[in-house]
Amino acid sequence: ERLPELLRSMPKAELHIHIEGSLEPELIFALAARNGVALPYPDVDSLRRAYAFTNLQSFLDIYYAGASVLLREQDFYDMAQAYFRRAAADKVVCAEIFFDPQTHTARGVAMQVVIDGLHRACVDAKKDFGIDASLILCFLRHLSEEDAFATLEAAKPYLDRIIGVGLDSSELGHPPEKFARVFAQCRELGLHVVAHAGEEGPPAYIHAALDVLHAERIDHGVQAIHDPALMDRLARERIPLTVCPLSNQKLCVFPNLADHNIGALLAAGLAVTINSDDPAYFGGYMNDNFLQTFAATGLDSDAAYQLSRNAFEGSFADAATKQRYI
Ligand code: HPA
Ligand code: ZN
Repeated sequence: ERLPELLRSMPKAELHIHIEGSLEPELIFALAARNGVALPYPDVDSLRRAYAFTNLQSFLDIYYAGASVLLREQDFYDMAQAYFRRAAADKVVCAEIFFDPQTHTARGVAMQVVIDGLHRACVDAKKDFGIDASLILCFLRHLSEEDAFATLEAAKPYLDRIIGVGLDSSELGHPPEKFARVFAQCRELGLHVVAHAGEEGPPAYIHAALDVLHAERIDHGVQAIHDPALMDRLARERIPLTVCPLSNQKLCVFPNLADHNIGALLAAGLAVTINSDDPAYFGGYMNDNFLQTFAATGLDSDAAYQLSRNAFEGSFADAATKQRYI
């Protein structure tokens, strides 16, 4: 009784949320109607029934199809505002939000349209929900280095509205080294750097994210468990791992939530955090992730405080903001 209440009510920082992954089926259909976009599913229920994933790629195919309804600045605003409303209900007070501009620019949507809509929602999130929100531009790793460089060029007029860059999409076959030069330029521009690594990919991809991209946080990182030297390093350097338990379960990274290694990662002293990844697709926002993970794995209240503290410490918020919650 008291643990669930603690989990629901404690202030949270969310460090791993793809805003396109917060697009609920109802909003997908509303935006499709508003924009005259045809969908390959007749209704909300049949779309939701398609959310039966076997691995990362099987999810990404449907996730990119869902994002095809986003065309106007207001669409991006409405999507982000809906996320902030849900996040606020789960006591999220700080959110660092991934977005995938290449998914949109490839359809002819201008970078300015994407960033204007998301940024306006971030400004209003503070006013309307008391959430400190910021944006992290993610490069799609299944696309080329050249495409990533072109995306960075297109984003340069708006870098004052972006705190950092990340790396997402299909991991296997697309190691961090592919983007070494893009990330070097991002760091020269003063941007924070994070990267998905070790979700499905091997520990070598986590090493490369740290050594080649100089990632300040590792998104997912759960495969580190197979590399004891890497575990020691992650613990010693307190590299935050933005773990997403319901995502890992839905994409079959672990057969069941009870098999998740979050307890082992915490016990090894890693700076683990809990996040929702793509909440509209994986069956839950922050509180669902906390409540289901604790119920399935038997984590206790000490773990709850530790996870919350890790997230604020690992965030890119200014010292004063972090200090309020640590
Ligand atoms: N992994 C990689 N790419 C993604 C994810 C993820 O979990 N979610 C959205 N894009
Ligand atoms: Zn992710």
